[in-house]
Amino acid sequence: MQDLSWWKHAVVYQIYPRSFQDSNGDGIGDLNGIRSRLDYLVGLGVDAVWISPIYPSPMADFGYDVADYCGIDPMFGTMEDFDRLLEDVHGRGLRMILDFVPNHTSDQHPWFIESRSSRDNPKRDWYVWRDEPNNWQSHFGGSAWEFDEKTGQYYLHEFLKEQPDLNWRNPAVKEAVFEALRFWLRKGVDGFRVDVMWLMIKDDRFRDNPPNPAYKVGQGSRERLLPIYDADRPEVHGLVAEMRDVLEEFGDRVLIGEIYLPVPRLMQYYGKELRGAHLPFNFQLLQCAWTADELARTIGDYMSALPSGAWPNWVLGNHDKSRIASRIGLKKARSAALLLLSLPGTLTIYYGEELGMQDVLIRPDEAHDPAERRQPGIGMGRDPERTPMPWDNSRQCGFTEGMPWLPIGDANRAVNVDWSRKDPGSMLALYQRLLRLRRAEPVLVVGQLTEMDASDGVLQFARADGKRRFRVIINLGEEARRIPVEAGAIAACTDLDREGETVNEAVRVEAADAMIIEMVGATLA
Ligand code: GLC
Repeated sequence: MQDLSWWKHAVVYQIYPRSFQDSNGDGIGDLNGIRSRLDYLVGLGVDAVWISPIYPSPMADFGYDVADYCGIDPMFGTMEDFDRLLEDVHGRGLRMILDFVPNHTSDQHPWFIESRSSRDNPKRDWYVWRDEPNNWQSHFGGSAWEFDEKTGQYYLHEFLKEQPDLNWRNPAVKEAVFEALRFWLRKGVDGFRVDVMWLMIKDDRFRDNPPNPAYKVGQGSRERLLPIYDADRPEVHGLVAEMRDVLEEFGDRVLIGEIYLPVPRLMQYYGKELRGAHLPFNFQLLQCAWTADELARTIGDYMSALPSGAWPNWVLGNHDKSRIASRIGLKKARSAALLLLSLPGTLTIYYGEELGMQDVLIRPDEAHDPAERRQPGIGMGRDPERTPMPWDNSRQCGFTEGMPWLPIGDANRAVNVDWSRKDPGSMLALYQRLLRLRRAEPVLVVGQLTEMDASDGVLQFARADGKRRFRVIINLGEEARRIPVEAGAIAACTDLDREGETVNEAVRVEAADAMIIEMVGATLA
């Protein structure tokens, strides 16, 4: 694997900084907190951290409303704290990926303050201003246009009105934002996760979106329309390629794009001749039904749609989606971990997945997330998956000395890191085992994925190269099964006690269990 770029064989760990570790007792996580937990990440066996936004922000959307692309919000620390964190991350052999939010800024960004100050301000055209709104809807509900009394025009905001969209057709915007990327690249950050990459440029004629025939009552207002003209525009690919060029000025850095699109359109983001994003985020496992048939289809469709030479990637969760352990249940989440860690390419783990953290119920009147507050009760809220990391058994689980900004939740308290370390059968122990195996067996990263099968509720596939061969078996059914197999040994199993067990002809897999078997004949091939 020496000749592969670091990010190709990396397992990335996403940190939601408000909720990872507080160091100053304000109940909100911070950079020094993250720094104090790096040994945990090394022990877990991940290779890189991606940190959700830490820039100065009024926090209308918890940091995804950036008021200065080249600073650190005091809530998270200082630039010195950042520099020290980066140094320590690198010192431990880890990489650091920053979240970057180029589609929009905060309405408190000096650029927008200037832009809205008058119609003839030089920065007026840095944002999207129109005399009349069209029918585009915000992702958080309601019109995507806000009237500005003072200058008598409307500005576009794909998210909150506190998050005005930048005008990426303006070369000066491009230059300024690319300079911000260079600021962090010069410091040595190893790459970016680019927020809402598929939204960055809109129809130049501002045509109305057509109605969505699949809209169902109870969905958000954006779902009423098909996002033809305010998303996934053809011009976006040129921008992504230019962004990629900026990263390449600095060598081996990674460009990851947040993109929610059907697979064929997602694949376009690898770019012409693979000059686009290195990794357009693959959210298929976040969205598919958790049955053997659906998983086989989802994995197969994704793999066969990959352009030649494009590198796959997989995730089970993030700060915008219900946690995997809540979506499919704790028991199946163990086999989901085994599935994830045996798929080819780059993987991302959302903090706490490795403990089996679940969504925490947040009372409606205690919601922080603007997505919930603007469209209450229709399941848009993202607080449940953003709750504090439980480290130990103390009152606030070692997360803070103060009052945590979101409740910790009893189920998550029970799987705290200290406890998980003591229990040899914990989810944490399983993740550690799987991460160690993946590191030791490059075939799990780069090998062919073949022999996909989904008979009788059991998902199976093989991972192989010329020399080594593993069989992955995931029982998604309600009953134990005897699965015919060639001779081998269990390299990892959701039931950790079974590791090392030799198998011959057939193996029994309990309901909801999963295993990776190393086939012995393979080394002879
Ligand atoms: C992305 C982020 C989400 C944020 C939105 C607006 O989808 O992941 O958390 O609210 O963009 O920036």
